[in-house]
Amino acid sequence: MGLNLRGKAWIFLAILCCSSISSAKAAVSYDHKAVIINGQRRILLSGSIHYPRSTPEMWPDLIQKAKDGGLDVIQTYVFWNGHEPSPGKYYFEDRYDLVRFVKLVQQAGLYVHLRIGPYVCAEWNFGGFPVWLKYIPGIAFRTDNGPFKAAMQKFTEKIVGMMKAEKLFETQGGPIILSQIENEYGPVEWEIGAPGKAYTKWAAEMAVGLSTGVPWIMCKQDDAPDPIINTCNGFYCEGFKPNSDRKPKMWTENWTGWFTEFGGAVPYRPAEDIAFSVARFIQNGGSFVNYYMYHGGTNFDRTAGGFIATSYDYDAPLDEYGLPREPKWSHLKELHKVIKLCEPALVTVDPTVTSLGDNQEAHVFRSKSSCAAFLSNYDPSSAVKVTFGGFPYDLPPWSVSILPDCKTVYYNTAQVRAPSVTMKMVPTGGPFSWESYNEESPSWNDDGTFALDGFVEQINMTRDSTDYLWYLTDITISPDEKFLKTGDDPLLTIWSAGHALHVFVNGQLAGTAYGSLNNPKLTFSQKIKLHAGVNKLALLSIAVGLPNVGLHYETWNAGVLGPVSLKGVNSGTWDMSKWKWSYKVGLKGEALSLHTVTGSSSVEWVEGSLVAKKQPLTWYKASFDTPAGNEPLALDMDTMGKGQIWINGRNIGRHWPGNTAHGNCGRCSYAGTYTDKKCLSNCGEASQRWYHVPRSWLKPSGNLLVVFEEWGGDPNGITLVRRTSK
Ligand code: GAL
Repeated sequence: MGLNLRGKAWIFLAILCCSSISSAKAAVSYDHKAVIINGQRRILLSGSIHYPRSTPEMWPDLIQKAKDGGLDVIQTYVFWNGHEPSPGKYYFEDRYDLVRFVKLVQQAGLYVHLRIGPYVCAEWNFGGFPVWLKYIPGIAFRTDNGPFKAAMQKFTEKIVGMMKAEKLFETQGGPIILSQIENEYGPVEWEIGAPGKAYTKWAAEMAVGLSTGVPWIMCKQDDAPDPIINTCNGFYCEGFKPNSDRKPKMWTENWTGWFTEFGGAVPYRPAEDIAFSVARFIQNGGSFVNYYMYHGGTNFDRTAGGFIATSYDYDAPLDEYGLPREPKWSHLKELHKVIKLCEPALVTVDPTVTSLGDNQEAHVFRSKSSCAAFLSNYDPSSAVKVTFGGFPYDLPPWSVSILPDCKTVYYNTAQVRAPSVTMKMVPTGGPFSWESYNEESPSWNDDGTFALDGFVEQINMTRDSTDYLWYLTDITISPDEKFLKTGDDPLLTIWSAGHALHVFVNGQLAGTAYGSLNNPKLTFSQKIKLHAGVNKLALLSIAVGLPNVGLHYETWNAGVLGPVSLKGVNSGTWDMSKWKWSYKVGLKGEALSLHTVTGSSSVEWVEGSLVAKKQPLTWYKASFDTPAGNEPLALDMDTMGKGQIWINGRNIGRHWPGNTAHGNCGRCSYAGTYTDKKCLSNCGEASQRWYHVPRSWLKPSGNLLVVFEEWGGDPNGITLVRRTSK
């Protein structure tokens, strides 16, 4: 009965909203084998490139390299908080020029998979949600909630409307062949139950009702309502089955590596393992594979999600700077070539599977006019000799051999023919000639501070316009406090919802504490030096990007929420939570726009031997000329602590190289276990040492470089480097 109803609903929806999808003349439709474009079933190879993670000047080259690498489709999310920074005020310029990006893909002759979301996850600040959404009365995120659904629908309609107006859907002659609504909602729905189910149904109907003429997908959503296609995300997806035998088997995120978190080691994924996972998916009837990421790029500005590094390199086939990562890029290119040779057979018939041994199989696609075979060895460590079609074949461990004519091995996923290329970061130009400006910790009676009773939540105060919020109070110590004589300093303990905290006592940095990706909360507990009389306590609370995963975004908070206590005074312990606290949003240097040419002239900078070193709260500036050539450029920030960097007024991201890298870079044993044991590099070194400086942000000479350093670094170690294989 249930099934029948579902079947009917599918037909009904298909007729109602998507007659263009299912009719014979439709430009884009699908069946159980594949997405069908202009009547042709297609094996589609796709790659994620997120437009705001590179510059418009880089886009044509990235897209061309994706095409040269054998891709048919570029997949991107749409970044709501970049496009609607305040309610109803839209921004589609520069790195957020979505129409330009889609048109460039079209000009290159590729298709687009537009993942509108508008929740995107993506290690992007707040998962792509504008922060103002949190303050809509009565809102509850990603559930059956009126205010949320209204906002989500409005933005989705805005994007679909724009794409239609520019004739960008395939049915209008444009490149967009697929869209996506929501993102990996299945696990959330499972967690929250009935309201989640209602929301899924609503989101699906809302999306389909927009009549784009091309199919919608929902990733990681087993109950995606017809006609929406549910798809797989993961390191491996060969066992995935869509929820209807009328839908093709699609893989929207094949993770080509993984993201780096601040303080973490740098994950990588061997090319052989990616190729193996793709070949296995295709031999099992898969017809769409997207590499997440094909080019990861950079989290410029403050766009990174909570504790996510500025580099979003992802060990992708195109590196952060847009250069092919070898041998990964070429190994996958060869794979794509051979898959295309198999395409006629793959789209025509379902495979016949036979066993070739304990852990070996043959998947054969034999039609009247074509034959393609995949010989696979799932044994993670042993090579095996098998017989297929009367001939012997050697199968390396953990590999698939592809025979586009059912006879000759054109490609084996474990045999990498392309040479590896090691990229170097070579210093270019002389040392910078720095000037510095020291920002002092404020006092509660400074301009721009305001007093409130108790503690305030940080994001509510800053609305994420800055990472920084000051919490200020005075500690008055009477001369007869015993610790003044004994020297047994009192213990200051601060509980904070995160993400990082610098504690200044009488203008001196007394200590620092920070959370991590998995636990953004922190506790600062340290003895502090106080003198008789009034002592100034200034807490600089720092949000290191807003988290991008989890439930109930409306309840998330950051900052010092208490309790705060001082232990070891005559009366025992003071609970400072009830004291009067004053607040200041942002830094003085931010208010003065010290990162710009005009702003930076508003304060006195010191130079030469007076330039601050290892000083907290320091602004540095220098001017430099652009090195000749077109090799990508970066700043080596290894000697710095934590802060932000600007070039010619543009924010290239947060720096936090740290020496905090943990993890266990042992032998990388990915085969069969990659999912839980990511391969790691950089253990014991900086999580991120180099920060991309886009060439298009530079002028030939006199570029302004500004660095804000929170806790102390040596600017003389900063160098401009070029990325090169020579
Ligand atoms: C997926 C998610 C992506 C991204 C990825 C990890 O689950 O859909 O947006 O966050 O994980 O890089």
